[in-house]
Amino acid sequence: MYDVHAVRKDFPVLSKVVYLDSTATTQTPVPAVEAMNEYFYEYAGNHGRGAHRLARETTTRYEDARERVAAFLKADPSKTVFTKNTTEGINLVANSFPFKAGDHIVTTLIEHHSNLLPWLRLQKMGVEVTIVKPEGPEGLIDPESIEKALTDRTKLVAVTQVSNVFGSVQAVARITKMTHRNGVKVLIDGAQSAGHMPVELSALDCDFFATAGHKGLLGPQGTGVLYIKEPDLLESAFVGGGTVSGVEGLNYVLEPSPACFEAGTPNIPGVIGLGRAVEYLEDIGVFEIEKHETRLARETAARLSEMEHVEVYGPTERAGVVPFNVRGLHAHDVALILDQSRKICVRSGHHCAIPSINFLEVDSTVRASFALYNTEEEVDALIGAVSDLKALVA
Ligand code: ALA
Repeated sequence: MYDVHAVRKDFPVLSKVVYLDSTATTQTPVPAVEAMNEYFYEYAGNHGRGAHRLARETTTRYEDARERVAAFLKADPSKTVFTKNTTEGINLVANSFPFKAGDHIVTTLIEHHSNLLPWLRLQKMGVEVTIVKPEGPEGLIDPESIEKALTDRTKLVAVTQVSNVFGSVQAVARITKMTHRNGVKVLIDGAQSAGHMPVELSALDCDFFATAGHKGLLGPQGTGVLYIKEPDLLESAFVGGGTVSGVEGLNYVLEPSPACFEAGTPNIPGVIGLGRAVEYLEDIGVFEIEKHETRLARETAARLSEMEHVEVYGPTERAGVVPFNVRGLHAHDVALILDQSRKICVRSGHHCAIPSINFLEVDSTVRASFALYNTEEEVDALIGAVSDLKALVA
């Protein structure tokens, strides 16, 4: 039996607010915060750069975190690169993959800007980009629409696993299989999936998977993960300290993956905290977490849909993301009222995904999003607060 009240003890801030903004960033559990404190208090040194005891201890703990995160995602640690967020991971691929003028990339309209702008930017060097639209307002992409968009020049399909605007879950396994059949590489944006649902990269077989450390994985801000199936395919756009095994005259030789992709001193305490957060998640079990979050989100969406003054977006079978609007009130006003009247924290606005918001033909939405620590009582609090807004718009 999933014990959400036991889980909540590890997130002290939750006693102060109703936190329903985990799609933007999650709270970090005490054991992960303690692991970071321990780094600062007990053994802070640099990673991979020294023979003394603090540098050695730091290197060991950082690499332990890599093993832990890779195991959680069922990935090879030597192909698991730490970044500062999903956005950096995707930019790293966009700028390190050998794209040339005339190449073609397929992405979708439901991407957040992090999985759209890095591809649009490549248009400047003559790369063509096709944006596949979702089937309807549920925000679901038909894998066949992606297949139809492929040409003999397509080098990459870049698609999100879970939309941060609709809460829709895409058929990424089917998309990956079908794209590979056409000899094209696949990047999955896992910003809203990792930690919220089981992700097994060895089975998924995508070429790249980018995610954040500070969302479903419960790590601190400033951490992210990029999985690269064939590291030799990329020439890292970032080089410098930590990436190189030798320099002679004007030439240099890069370290093998993952070191060649982690230029400069990384976010060492953050990565160590992320490793501990993932251990915490493993102890609870991601299947349990997925069940808990989707149940709360689907119940919230169903109850909001019953209110005449509320419009809810996204599919019925959603991940833990519930976007909605209150007719006659701007999304930012709704978010402010919820905060000021009931200390309910939701996000409002375009959610860093303007094309998705335009597709819904609105200028913003309110978004309640869920994590392992949310409760039925918090759903009731949101429902009560939104229901009360009727008095303002009647
Ligand atoms: N992409 C993040 C969100 O949806 C920042 O809020």
